[in-house]
Amino acid sequence: MNGMHVLEVEHLNIWEERSGRVLVHDSSFRLAQGECLAIVGESGSGKSLTCKSLMRLNRTGVRQSGFVALNGEDLSKLSDKEMRKFRGRRFCMIMQNGMSAFDPSRPIGAHLLETLGVHFNWSRAEMETRLTATMSSVGLKEPAVVMRSYPHELSGGMLQRVMISLAIVLEPDVIIADEPTTALDAVTAYEVVEQFMRLRERLGSAMIFVSHDLGAVRRIADNVLVMKDGGVVEHGTTKNIFAGASHPYTRYLVSSKQAMSRHFEQLMGDADVAKG
Ligand SMILES: Nc1ncnc2c1ncn2[C@@H]1O[C@H](COP(=O)(O)OP(=O)(O)OP(=O)(O)O)[C@@H](O)[C@H]1O
Ligand SMILES: [Mg+2]
Repeated sequence: MNGMHVLEVEHLNIWEERSGRVLVHDSSFRLAQGECLAIVGESGSGKSLTCKSLMRLNRTGVRQSGFVALNGEDLSKLSDKEMRKFRGRRFCMIMQNGMSAFDPSRPIGAHLLETLGVHFNWSRAEMETRLTATMSSVGLKEPAVVMRSYPHELSGGMLQRVMISLAIVLEPDVIIADEPTTALDAVTAYEVVEQFMRLRERLGSAMIFVSHDLGAVRRIADNVLVMKDGGVVEHGTTKNIFAGASHPYTRYLVSSKQAMSRHFEQLMGDADVAKG
């Protein structure tokens, strides 16, 4: 087992049980400590299924095989109960739509405290102190108000920040962000990506960042995995992928999105973009 890698995925196959239809075919990749790997590819290429299978979260009717190890530990050997302990604490999933991640019938704070209560033996006061401190650090101005709010009372950008602050408190080994900015407008998305970059710096967690936004991928990812029709068609450093992708599909993806990101940079003005 290679101790250098936080996450190792080998020969991951995912298929629909009833029809036998293959959804992800023989995918292999690794994540080093602190590395950010972006997964890109067209809709339906298997990005979300790949993410969910790492945590064994795929729905019934979807089967998986292959080797997935976290810090050298073979996850297929874990019982469901052990796997539940891993989720949240060691794997943290940040979803596309903040609304769907929270229970709509309860205030945000109740949900956050419950999640922390599962993983730590902290007092309520200690949990609240940690949460409010991290919320402020990701730009949520009134943490106490946020804690009392219901999910529908917060904007998509605020909900993403709440999830990022929860991740900071949880300090997972791997953060999986599946299109975390898709539901946001361009300016908010830009700021949320900024928060993801800080999150990485702060925790040194490895990160999987699934996105259609190649501008964001370019800013945040060290390496890029390109998927098409359930297979990995290319895997390389972000620099190489953007400079000269070898697979025609990746070249197509990069050239069409570069035109868009230039437009985005014009929209954003100069200062902020120039820094990144
Ligand atoms: N529960 C399921 N049962 C059967 N097939 C599924 C299930 N979930 C997804 N699929 C199929 O698997 C393929 C990959 O889906 P997936 O959600 O991983 O795509 P994706 O790359 O995340 O796309 P998007 O960019 O639209 O989010 C699709 O063809 C989809 O129809
Ligand atoms: Mg998806």
